Amino acid sequence: MLDFAIDVAYRAGALIRAGAEREITYEPKQHADVVTEVDRASEALIVGAIRARYPDHAIVAEEGSGVSMASPYTWLIDPLDGTLNFLHGLPIFAVSIALLAYNEPLLGVVYDPMRNELFYAERGKGAFLNGRRLHVSRTSALARSLLSSGLPYDRFTQPDNNLTELTYLAMLVQDIRRPGSAALDLCAVAAGRTDGHWELGLKPWDVAAGGLIAREAGATVTDWQGGEWRPLGSDRIVATNGLIHAELLAALAAARRQREQNPMSDTISPRS
Ligand code: IPD
Ligand code: CA
Ligand code: CA
Repeated sequence: MLDFAIDVAYRAGALIRAGAEREITYEPKQHADVVTEVDRASEALIVGAIRARYPDHAIVAEEGSGVSMASPYTWLIDPLDGTLNFLHGLPIFAVSIALLAYNEPLLGVVYDPMRNELFYAERGKGAFLNGRRLHVSRTSALARSLLSSGLPYDRFTQPDNNLTELTYLAMLVQDIRRPGSAALDLCAVAAGRTDGHWELGLKPWDVAAGGLIAREAGATVTDWQGGEWRPLGSDRIVATNGLIHAELLAALAAARRQREQNPMSDTISPRS
């Protein structure tokens, strides 16, 4: 099934790469969230391939073409993670394919078609980038860490939107990035390119493959309370090299307390 998922990811990636070279049409979903014809074409390719090969597996896919059925196996598909980057021509996007067995991740594939980087993992068998084994970084202090994070699409109306946390963490770490593809952000932790990633407002297809890849590369992956991360559980994730995990969780909790004590500091958009 891993070979199958890799083959499908390569084919979807080729379709996305071709789409990056031409004008494409898109529609708004909500506020900053959009869907392009390439998201839909990639999803059709992936879902079609799974249905043909594994007709008795359930499929959950972001753009809604999944198949629900009672099955121990569920595929979680993000046909194009980083759609806004794709639309603007910023080459940071990927296709993300995960397979859950009894709701637990069994395998994950994230393919970046612009760098030809294929990240993949199987539970208990380690994580790899183009065949090379991955390992998380060795940075042992939050103060020396390079982190990444994200901003949820509902931030305009949702005060619990990570802005307090971003401001708070910015003063504690070496620096913060917001690359714009949660799947690749988690793979960057797996590859030791960053020391940690935290985010909220995520969907299972954003993180299922990347979370497994990070964990198999030695990352500690939890929710914001330090509880076990499950792709179908919390919409919040913290993935780090393990060495800075406790410090990062403590900082997130402190930022939250700050917001609760001073709700007027909530950043709400003039657009809301
Ligand atoms: C988004 C990206 C982004 C994250 C958003 C996701 P999409 O996925 O992963 O980094 O911050 O929460 O929705 O919409 O490009 O597939
Ligand atoms: Ca996504
Ligand atoms: Ca997507």
